[in-house]
Amino acid sequence: MAAVSPFSALADASFPLITNMPARQQQSLNGQWRTIVDPFENGYYDYRLNPTDNGYAQDLDYSDPTELQEYDFGKDKFLQVPGDWNSQRPELYYYEGTVWYRNRFTPEITPGRRQFLYFGASNYETIVWLNGKRLGEHVGGFTPFNFEVTGLLNEGENSLVVKVDNKRRPEGVPTVNADWWNYGGLTRPVSIVETPAAFVRDYSVQLSPAQKNTVNAEFEVEGDGIGEVTLYIPELKINKKVAIGQDGRGSVSLKCTPQLWSPENPKLYDICIIAAGDTIRDEIGFRTISTDGTRILLNGKEIFCRGVSIHEEAPYNSGRSWSREHAHTLLNWAREMNCNFVRLAHYPHNEEMVREAERMGLLVWSEIPVYWTIHWDNPDTYANASRQLNDMITRDKNRCNIIIWSIANETPRSDARNQFLTRLAAEARALDGGTRLIGAAMEKDEIRPGVMSVDDALSDVLDIISFNEYIGWYDGKPEKCDTSNWEFTIDKPVFISEFGGGALAGLHGDPAHRFTEEHQEDLYRRHTAMLDRIPGLAGCTPWILKDFRSPRRHLPGIQDDFNRKGLISDKGDRKKAFYVMKNWYAKKLPQSSAKK
Ligand code: GCU
Repeated sequence: MAAVSPFSALADASFPLITNMPARQQQSLNGQWRTIVDPFENGYYDYRLNPTDNGYAQDLDYSDPTELQEYDFGKDKFLQVPGDWNSQRPELYYYEGTVWYRNRFTPEITPGRRQFLYFGASNYETIVWLNGKRLGEHVGGFTPFNFEVTGLLNEGENSLVVKVDNKRRPEGVPTVNADWWNYGGLTRPVSIVETPAAFVRDYSVQLSPAQKNTVNAEFEVEGDGIGEVTLYIPELKINKKVAIGQDGRGSVSLKCTPQLWSPENPKLYDICIIAAGDTIRDEIGFRTISTDGTRILLNGKEIFCRGVSIHEEAPYNSGRSWSREHAHTLLNWAREMNCNFVRLAHYPHNEEMVREAERMGLLVWSEIPVYWTIHWDNPDTYANASRQLNDMITRDKNRCNIIIWSIANETPRSDARNQFLTRLAAEARALDGGTRLIGAAMEKDEIRPGVMSVDDALSDVLDIISFNEYIGWYDGKPEKCDTSNWEFTIDKPVFISEFGGGALAGLHGDPAHRFTEEHQEDLYRRHTAMLDRIPGLAGCTPWILKDFRSPRRHLPGIQDDFNRKGLISDKGDRKKAFYVMKNWYAKKLPQSSAKK
């Protein structure tokens, strides 16, 4: 019998993503939630594996000893939301399974307005009930989702029950193998969003990639009665009424000459969108990104992406990061290393991280977790990847600092993989409208002894030749960098999305000994000397800014469940290789800032 999908076709209150959460009227549901750890999913399946909404979702208090009840949220343990469960409770360190979350809350409801339940992210498979009624489900651990709850909220106390299951799945995105900790739970903020009956749900305000000095604006309204919206950009003296059609959409192209956003001048403009009864404010940067042969052009000028890769893991204490403070610390570390670019690996990071990078002048590579051995032949897997791509682009399309959408990481080559990714790249291009480059982390090939390149059909559909290579760590010893040279036949920018090697901060010794800081320092010295010889190199994001937890890293006393390739330790110690990278980037600083 086919496994009974938990996602039966019951009423589903899922709603198209409401964008720009920081500007919306929200009642936070963050805080201590009651939880039940349920490895056998006893709260959802009966002993014949039939799913039911009449289990823990009913959130009954255990009060009548004459009745049989085998759970009671009110007497069970707490977990902090947002936050993963693995780093909050020692007994959940390795836990992969279901945890039930329960929050009882009394909302402030304004008559005549609409209410939505918003989740910044939940890893991995989530089902949501409000007052015992199922609202719907979501699959995917790193993208937002929301449900309309207008008319479903009680005036007084409400019971919100959420089943989160982080078990890895072969057909999942990512699949069962990954080199990062499988942090489960309500890992990003949860809130009740209140809007007018009719409101501006989504919009795009971007500099046209095709016509100079032209801003393209598109709007999508929800609800009836909005015949036009007005776009204000005071500093640009824009005050433009835009008609909204029967389909709830409207658009306009406006001539103007904004100051262009760049890492050296991360100029953001206050914008305001006013519709009947709704006002939405945002900060928008304007820039163009394009390629010309092997050059990446930002605002028509060649740039070198002085980057570093980053996992979404909190500084100092590990666990999922989610706050502006976490973001600021991690991004400041990148800036200290003379970076103007960050690769947010291997999944969409939280919205605070992208926005803080935009404010700080850091370009971004944003990626969906189509990672390693995805099931290329499974249509559900493609639909999942496509949904995550759509949600990543929907949420962040107005963040001008994102210049690369990445659709994959280190995926074994095959016809099925090429078809899957070619289709996904086309979807990304269509969704994005040409305002960004499409990339993926491919892998290098040694095409002749000592001669490296990338021989991957995917290169034809990407805008950059982006790939991971570990010469000197997985591929030979650091000395191999000295004798490796590179050849490329495709006239596109070369971007190395990963290179590096491990070291335990504070472990010093013979540079020939792996995991000493001296070994990592020597590797980076030889590696950057090799990078200087690569024709058409337009950027790189060494792996990785900070040591991060991984279940694949077992060497006692050295790794202890940490991938030690960080240039900074999980406790914030700069390793010697950090300064090699910092100094190599210093030589690539634009002349103006190099003088400082
Ligand atoms: C791969 C992969 C990373 C991984 C790294 C490593 O390149 O993309 O996710 O952490 O190698 O082995 O450290």
